[in-house]
Amino acid sequence: MNYKKAAAQIIANAMNSEDLTIEQAEKLMAVPPNPEMGDAAFPCFTLAKTFRKAPPAIAAELCEKVSEAVSNSDLFEKVAAMGGYLNFYLKHGAFAKEVVSEVLEKGEDYGKSNEGEGKKVLVEFSSPNIAKPFHIGHLVTTALGSSLERIYSFLGYDTVKINHLGDWGTQFGKLISAYKRWGDAETIEADPINELLKIYVKFHTEAEKAPELEDEARAYFKMLEDGDEEITKLWKFFVDASLKEFNKTYKLLDITFDSYAGESFYSDKMPEIVELLQEKKLLEESDGAQVVRFEDENVPPCIILKSDGTTIYATRDLAAALYRKRTYDFYKNIYVVGTPQALHFKQIFSVLNKMGYTWSDDCVHVGFGYVRFPDKVLSTRHGDVVFLEDVLRESIEKTKEIIKNSATSKNIDNIDEVSEKIGVGAILYSFLKNGREKDIVFTWKDILDFEGESGPYVQYAYARGRSVLRKATENGINYSSADLSLLEGNDEFELIKLINSFEDVVRDAANKNEPCCVTRYVTELAQMFNKFYNTCNIMKSEDALRDARLKLTEAVCICIKSALYLIGVRVVEKM
Ligand code: ARG
Repeated sequence: MNYKKAAAQIIANAMNSEDLTIEQAEKLMAVPPNPEMGDAAFPCFTLAKTFRKAPPAIAAELCEKVSEAVSNSDLFEKVAAMGGYLNFYLKHGAFAKEVVSEVLEKGEDYGKSNEGEGKKVLVEFSSPNIAKPFHIGHLVTTALGSSLERIYSFLGYDTVKINHLGDWGTQFGKLISAYKRWGDAETIEADPINELLKIYVKFHTEAEKAPELEDEARAYFKMLEDGDEEITKLWKFFVDASLKEFNKTYKLLDITFDSYAGESFYSDKMPEIVELLQEKKLLEESDGAQVVRFEDENVPPCIILKSDGTTIYATRDLAAALYRKRTYDFYKNIYVVGTPQALHFKQIFSVLNKMGYTWSDDCVHVGFGYVRFPDKVLSTRHGDVVFLEDVLRESIEKTKEIIKNSATSKNIDNIDEVSEKIGVGAILYSFLKNGREKDIVFTWKDILDFEGESGPYVQYAYARGRSVLRKATENGINYSSADLSLLEGNDEFELIKLINSFEDVVRDAANKNEPCCVTRYVTELAQMFNKFYNTCNIMKSEDALRDARLKLTEAVCICIKSALYLIGVRVVEKM
């Protein structure tokens, strides 16, 4: 329910359309800092020039002009001039009726919009590297990207989820060299990622002593690029074994992809990029390599071809961008990749721009910070990696312990399923809690704090709401025809206003590419619901009010469930 628009309409009706349109009035409309100042405030400052009067005088005059329309309106209680503002006050009961019935009518479609209709948004995320662990850093891109995709899709965009697998590059030369020296198919098959990581790490230690190993690795990668049969077979073995492992984690996270076109997919599409760059006279030689230089001195040249003629990561990204534009004709092409790669994407987008592709402006890098464990930073080069699957399993186990020790555990008959949803949800929530550029400080204490700002806290609010509704049904209460206009109390009103802002929050999250907008929102909603639950004793209220409150509870549950879905967290009915 867009009550700001309703207020804007009243104001615009009272004025000449040359002076102010509804759209302009709606844009200006603000939310007052506290409830005493009403629910929507129209600032008169910009009108001062047109009317050659001080804003407070304009506000007072406008107030008189609209007072009749306001007293005839179903939605507003009153209007008052305060300083340079015209403040509108909602009728609590009427507003409650509008909002709660809309939620119950729309159900899981509540908050959705069709503003993205016909526009394709590609979200590239996760993109782990083959033969390397799917580590905790990859969880950030996975959580963020999956959430963004859900958010855009909720707003009606046509989304495509792309996993740009790191399945090509010189590291495969190293891996092949390592495999030929120390590898064993059987051991690897039994525990692929760990074993491949082991020999890969060994390669690095050995190469420090014997640098010629690096040359050997380069030669193997060249053979791979040239399509050598034996080498390609080995590579395929690494890819398949790794994907099998990664899929276990995706399953736990309830995440799927539309495309797994990774770096190798573009290996045959790179000659075209090199040709195009040559044609456009953008390639220059530098120490035997071919590079594109930029006017901006702060951006180093982008290497396209190395001195041995092999392509690199950047070349593959150029080919990928062009391929995506041709295949999907995207409205937006989003890359969810850590902030350390910000310069890389700046180079890629600048090269595309130099090539004359104006759609380079529709390519967006969505960066994020590091995951920090209070005293050590993660890296994949060494042995001390934190595997994502291990973290998720640990979270599930810890959750199970907490639930087992809780007073309500005897009511739960599917404890494994519940622990999985809560344990995984707790991690996702904590990763999407703060602005993405901030580092994430990983501590179990915060992640599984059932009383703090956490996934379990929000899931508990949902389960609590559902339990009240269950109890009502068990007691034979039929609240379907409740009179919602009885929901007039302040706690109820604030809760309903929050429910009403859901769509705006989702839009804001998409505009900023920040799922944390949704995380914060759902946390506030859970807190506000708990407050309502504690102050308004739902089941002990007088019958008519009880029924209205039950309906409100149902609306809150719908809204929490949808918001949690947008950040990848699943709900449980009991916990
Ligand atoms: N595989 C890379 C990594 O793990 C991320 C890929 C990012 N995407 C891209 N189009 N370059 O660091």
